[in-house]
Amino acid sequence: MTNTTSKHCPLLLIILMIICFVLNSATAETLTYNVVNFGAQPNSKMDSTKAFLSVWSKACASANPAAIYVPKGQFLLASSIIFKGPCANKAISIAIDGTLVAPSDYRVIGNAGNWLHFEYVNGISIRGGVLDGQGTALWDCKNSGKSNCPTGATTLAFSNSQNIVINGLTSMNSQMFHIVFNGCQNVKAQGVKVIADGNSPNTDGIHVQMSSHVTILYSNIRTGDDCVSIGPGTTNLWIENVACGPGHGISIGSLGKDMNEPGVQNVTVKTVTFTGTQNGVRIKSWGRPSNGFVRDILFQNAIMVNVQNPIVIDQNYCPDNKGCPGQASGVKISDVTYDNIHGTSATQVAVKFDCSSSYPCSGIRLKDVKLTYKNQVAQASCNHAGGAALGSVQPESCF
Ligand SMILES: *[C@@H]1O[C@H](CO)[C@@H](O)[C@H](O)[C@H]1NC(C)=O
Repeated sequence: MTNTTSKHCPLLLIILMIICFVLNSATAETLTYNVVNFGAQPNSKMDSTKAFLSVWSKACASANPAAIYVPKGQFLLASSIIFKGPCANKAISIAIDGTLVAPSDYRVIGNAGNWLHFEYVNGISIRGGVLDGQGTALWDCKNSGKSNCPTGATTLAFSNSQNIVINGLTSMNSQMFHIVFNGCQNVKAQGVKVIADGNSPNTDGIHVQMSSHVTILYSNIRTGDDCVSIGPGTTNLWIENVACGPGHGISIGSLGKDMNEPGVQNVTVKTVTFTGTQNGVRIKSWGRPSNGFVRDILFQNAIMVNVQNPIVIDQNYCPDNKGCPGQASGVKISDVTYDNIHGTSATQVAVKFDCSSSYPCSGIRLKDVKLTYKNQVAQASCNHAGGAALGSVQPESCF
């Protein structure tokens, strides 16, 4: 007995050592940085900005994938923070169980553009977390008509970045836009929750511009401005299973403010519910010259609940009649399909195509549309719009 054990002992030891080595190298692959170990303090008045920045510089400098962990609790991030790349690895993950809180005095970050800003990062994922922009005092300032209110900061911005995943993030009470992707490729945002008052100005839920292959899934956006706004240079955007309202709906635009502007192409908006919103699916451009365009757009399976303008193209946007009176939009809109759009309109005109007199909309297709106003047939209105109606379309199309 004793003999056999001692004979096998070296072999066992070697096996154990191999297991140990394998486990070690596996754990060494991803380094985890807990912000608390770098001085971040939950539930205190202390500013955790420095701790978050040191954790970021470690994670970003790591040659191996890096994980950042934010535990439960409220962490005050009292300044505008830039998480800057490029990084030495392409897999930084940030898991947030807590809440990140902006400074309560809106002036501190109110003119900084963004509160939390990722720049030049390739390969980042954010899981969970609540971002509290503390914007209510700034909305009050803006809503009271004071002229000296700051613009407000976007809560979470990504610019010039690639391969971004956001999963289960909540953004509440942003000063201005909640989440922005500008100059990004390959973005997947899902399970995003946006919460702000229906009267909060400029608090767009998710804004996308100059970006391609952005996917937004299973999200719930209640805010005071656009649910999703789609700016110039957006291509291959996919939005599916999103609930909007209150707010201004999903909007391509405003476009065509500038003479030289990249277009919007290949956008799919699918299985979306709009509840009590100002618009459902909208395309909007300034009434002034531009070389911009909108083409290959599909709005499919939308439910409208008491929406003021369920289907709308407005090419005569000219706020305060400044810089565009009497001019026509240069933005060329073509190949836009509305398929299976049902529900109720809060106004009599449920379908409105107000296109450019210089560049009429073309290839507009309505298929299986049924929108009612006060339990009766609603109306459609067309200006410089060409297209076709397929299947059953109510209100009757006006092409
Ligand atoms: C349109 O965009 C989707 C992603 O949203 C992509 O899968 C598809 O290939 C694109 N279509 C074209 C013609 O580029």
